[in-house]
Amino acid sequence: MASILQLFFLAAATPSSNSKPEIQWGACNATEVGSSVPIVCGNLEVPLDYTEPSSNATLTLQLARVPASSQPSKGSILFNFGGPGATGRGTLGLLGPALLALTSGHYDLIAFDPRGTGNTLPFSCTDNDIEGDTMLSELILGNSSDVALGRLWTRGTINAELCFQKSKATGSLIGTAFVARDLISVVDALGEDGMLRYWGFSYGTTLGATVASMFPEKIDRMILDGVQNPHQYYNSPADFEEWSFSDNEFSGIFSSCVAAPDLCSLARENSTAAELEQSVWDLIDTVKYHPIALGSFMLDYNTLKAIIVLSMYTTFYWPALTTLLDMLLTGNTQGALAAALEILGGLGPTEEARQMFMSVMGIHCADRTVRLSSFDDFLPVVNKLYNTSKIFGDVTPEITAICAQWKMKAQEIYDGDFKAKTKKPVLFIGNTGDGFTPLTSAYNVSSGFKDSVVLEVNGYGHSSLAVPSTCVLNVVTAYWLNGTLPELGTICQADTPPFSNTTLTKRNAWGDISRHLGKIFQPI
Ligand SMILES: *[C@@H]1O[C@H](CO)[C@@H](O)[C@H](O)[C@H]1NC(C)=O
Ligand SMILES: *[C@@H]1O[C@H](CO)[C@@H](O)[C@H](O)[C@H]1NC(C)=O
Ligand SMILES: *[C@@H]1O[C@H](CO)[C@@H](O)[C@H](O)[C@H]1NC(C)=O
Ligand SMILES: *[C@@H]1O[C@H](CO)[C@@H](O)[C@H](O)[C@H]1NC(C)=O
Ligand SMILES: *[C@@H]1O[C@H](CO)[C@@H](O)[C@H](O)[C@H]1NC(C)=O
Ligand SMILES: *[C@@H]1O[C@H](CO)[C@@H](O)[C@H](O)[C@H]1NC(C)=O
Ligand SMILES: *[C@@H]1O[C@H](CO)[C@@H](O)[C@H](O)[C@H]1NC(C)=O
Ligand SMILES: *[C@@H]1O[C@H](CO)[C@@H](O)[C@H](O)[C@H]1NC(C)=O
Repeated sequence: MASILQLFFLAAATPSSNSKPEIQWGACNATEVGSSVPIVCGNLEVPLDYTEPSSNATLTLQLARVPASSQPSKGSILFNFGGPGATGRGTLGLLGPALLALTSGHYDLIAFDPRGTGNTLPFSCTDNDIEGDTMLSELILGNSSDVALGRLWTRGTINAELCFQKSKATGSLIGTAFVARDLISVVDALGEDGMLRYWGFSYGTTLGATVASMFPEKIDRMILDGVQNPHQYYNSPADFEEWSFSDNEFSGIFSSCVAAPDLCSLARENSTAAELEQSVWDLIDTVKYHPIALGSFMLDYNTLKAIIVLSMYTTFYWPALTTLLDMLLTGNTQGALAAALEILGGLGPTEEARQMFMSVMGIHCADRTVRLSSFDDFLPVVNKLYNTSKIFGDVTPEITAICAQWKMKAQEIYDGDFKAKTKKPVLFIGNTGDGFTPLTSAYNVSSGFKDSVVLEVNGYGHSSLAVPSTCVLNVVTAYWLNGTLPELGTICQADTPPFSNTTLTKRNAWGDISRHLGKIFQPI
């Protein structure tokens, strides 16, 4: 085993073209980066502050690479998995086998921990575990009680101050425009053709739209998948558009359940999808005032909504979710804790969740150009969020309250209009049933990028990774291999409906992805 790996590392380190690669690839630290496919790691020194060309201060980017399964490699594809705050290397390791399949196997796959995540200039607001846990545990939902919004606003005041005190030296160096420049630094250091091939998911689409606007002539291939509205990411007090389809996806849980009554225990004879949904809304309201004891675990309004939000990343969780809801509605709660934990992944904040949350704050808030001066200015924003989505509206004010009072600003913020003619056209992908990034946003951004095309995927969940679809596999493979774009108006169907008797092992790549998806795209 060891010798095969060693051989493999030697092969991986061989330069693939003319200019001299600067990254030395070697074994990964298995505690941090594991994969069921071969994976190597390396570092690259990049400027710490791109706006200070006279400074020689650098930052070490930590990268991982899954080599092409069909050698020789045609080049590298870079990934960003969203958040912002998701680490690159660990996620690439987890999804390596699936992503090789989705990129034809002819490309090396590369991801780095972006600034503010992992060990790459980690962003922190406190060294004190109790203070860190309090930051998370006080992120109650805006409508969980009539005192919640005031507490959220003041929590935002406290977080903004704590993070400033702890990270004022680096908090302005972790913005998206610098990460865009890091992507180009990596491309240049790879010694290939000097062109960027990139697949970004969720927030990774904002990063992609940013790098494509700043460096249009460097874009060879780019897929932006699960598209955020980057105008709002930077310049709005809240990401309103992100939640404009959430209630429709929530309703989709019940219509899909009714369509597969044998596979969804929540389905009741003679109950319509609308009736089931109403009974769940009533349940949500009931647990607000009368939380349910599941063993030592209190299932209250905040946890029930957290479970629902997590379940909406991918239909993989829908059977567990509807089983749980059925148990809660019938009062037959034996096994309910297990179903809840299957979705939540565990009880209480983990070190990873804490770090992820700090990274999200550090990056998103530094990029955001809007500040609010008082609670009175915060309220109309909250009301607009409530109006946008009943299910997610009160989940999102937390990050809004924090960023509104943030005391740092990214050293460089892209301030253009996301209009560009890239060297080769960009492929956008949007799901018809994505409750986190609606199709509207894919069309919004595509309208600014010359000759780009939107591929619609008819399915529920966040980004194309959430929807098993041979059609998507064929479209993206043709794009990576040949640059072929789908015809305008192409709609891919899912291979299986949300409730289906196809076992996940049969979903291959997607079974693998689905299990990790909720953990990768962090809810906020
Ligand atoms: C591997 O990573 C773990 C966790 O970050 C760290 O504690 C350990 O020191 C690392 N090992 C090496 C050899 O760098
Ligand atoms: C960085 O630049 C300063 C001033 O030009 C110089 O004194 C120092 O040696 C340089 N450091 C490195 C690591 O090159
Ligand atoms: C469902 O509706 C049918 C027709 O109205 C009725 O015969 C049946 O008893 C109903 N079943 C239940 C469980 O209510
Ligand atoms: C929310 O919707 C209500 C009813 O449609 C409307 O009266 C109110 O102005 C809206 N508020 C915001 C902030 O959009
Ligand atoms: C807020 O909670 C109240 C009481 O439970 C409920 O009537 C109302 O619909 C909720 N509003 C939102 C936006 O969640
Ligand atoms: C895209 O979204 C922004 C922000 O919501 C909006 O101002 C702009 O008009 C939209 N552009 C298009 C073409 O829809
Ligand atoms: C890519 O183009 C080649 C040559 O035109 C063709 O043989 C191949 O089938 C294409 N591959 C895909 C996946 O479209
Ligand atoms: C799955 O469902 C289909 C259609 O309902 C049925 O024909 C098939 O036998 C089922 N397969 C299994 C393994 O249950």
